[in-house]
Amino acid sequence: MSVDVQSSHAPAGATAFPAGFLWGAATAAYQIEGSAAADGRAPSIWDTFSHTPGRVHNGDTGDIACDHYRRFGDDIALMADLGLNAYRFSLAWPRIVPRGSGPVNRAGLDFYDRLVDELLDHGIRPVVTLYHWDLPQALEDDGGWTNRATAERFAEYAAVTATRLGDRIPAWTTLNEPWCSAFLGYGSGVHAPGRHSHPEVLRAHHHLLLAHGLATAALRSVLPTSAEVSLTLNLAAVRPHTQDPADLDAARRIDGLANRLFLDPVFHGRYPDDVLTDTAHLVDWDTLVRPGDLGEISRPIDSLGINYYSPTVVAGRDPENAPAPDDDGAAPSPWPAADQVRFLPLPGPATAMDWPIDADGLHQVLTRLRDELPSVPLVVTENGAAFDDYTDPDGHVHDPERISYLHAHLTAVARALAEGADVRGYFVWSLLDNFEWAFGYSKRFGIVHVDFASQRRTPKDSAAWYARAVRTGHLPPP
Ligand code: FCB
Repeated sequence: MSVDVQSSHAPAGATAFPAGFLWGAATAAYQIEGSAAADGRAPSIWDTFSHTPGRVHNGDTGDIACDHYRRFGDDIALMADLGLNAYRFSLAWPRIVPRGSGPVNRAGLDFYDRLVDELLDHGIRPVVTLYHWDLPQALEDDGGWTNRATAERFAEYAAVTATRLGDRIPAWTTLNEPWCSAFLGYGSGVHAPGRHSHPEVLRAHHHLLLAHGLATAALRSVLPTSAEVSLTLNLAAVRPHTQDPADLDAARRIDGLANRLFLDPVFHGRYPDDVLTDTAHLVDWDTLVRPGDLGEISRPIDSLGINYYSPTVVAGRDPENAPAPDDDGAAPSPWPAADQVRFLPLPGPATAMDWPIDADGLHQVLTRLRDELPSVPLVVTENGAAFDDYTDPDGHVHDPERISYLHAHLTAVARALAEGADVRGYFVWSLLDNFEWAFGYSKRFGIVHVDFASQRRTPKDSAAWYARAVRTGHLPPP
């Protein structure tokens, strides 16, 4: 692929990105907005979960978070200062349709209306996600994602939202990481709603994909034809520990559950046979998947969002030294039909989440998609790292590890681009330090530091580094 560089003043050997590349930052509603009870918003499953003792580190909740609901103007000014040309954020379903069905809350839509106008005034492209995990609690009370009707409610919410905001939002994503919603929400239970049932994982998974398909249709019926519809997946860069048949089978299973269980239905209108066979004792797929469902799920979309943080190394149960999945007293496994799979630690540097740093995994995912879905444009909708950042007495936040993480991963994107992957943009996770789900405020992913008590924002050194990349279209040295 020939790369049309943005600037002709780049240092020799510098890594270049195409003109028109989206350079953004990403956030999610529950992680930053706060104002949890303002203007008619009703509780979501994450309000319930975070207010349940023992679920979230330190008892943290999203009640206040980054107070973005009231400070969005300042936050957008900050993004404009950094030169970002796109912002990926999510809409809170419980602000817009507070009980998940029934009355629409105009005040909730008004908030996003103001937010979108402010972005456009600053020349920043709004890239919207409809669902980043904050299911209205009222729908959970009716079964949540294990209930097929939730998919229909989601399509209604999509239509209502697009009717109001569709004239100004060019890019719509239905779901963020449905793997997490299904496998962490219903399997390991470390995410809301905190259930532990492998059959429910698979039911939730199918209904989430159905929700994506029905919402895609609803969006298309309302949006201008120029609007783009997308889905964001956290595909796994799976590697077998060795070429031993047990390890290869472990890799097949995890690739099946993390990748092909999403890609095959969405892009090819079928579920992978091996995964159906592996999980046949858990769910009756013939009843779960009704005639026509796969046609809905495989409606064409305009791009695929990829969230990438870390690779996954797996082995069959028996060989060597690593603990079996449940030996460490941790949460139950999120993975149905994978009891024999062990997840191995990767030696080398890791982030504050203990997630290994390995940019090759991002290259692996992007080039796989180039090969398997050559006509589907790709966007890296999340990538970033938590480190133990703090503000120096001089008022600065020095985060060289994050700069080198971003440099390495953006270099991997550039390499994939040069090798023909059609990558249209990159969104750093995250703009702001925020409520990191079960980890509460203990993990800082922002390129902007947030002092939660004062709500003071301090751009970290990584923000300045990223701003230089954005401005020049080339990566400065780390
Ligand atoms: C992703 C989520 C995002 C954030 C990052 C660290 O899985 O989509 O909200 O928590 O991980």
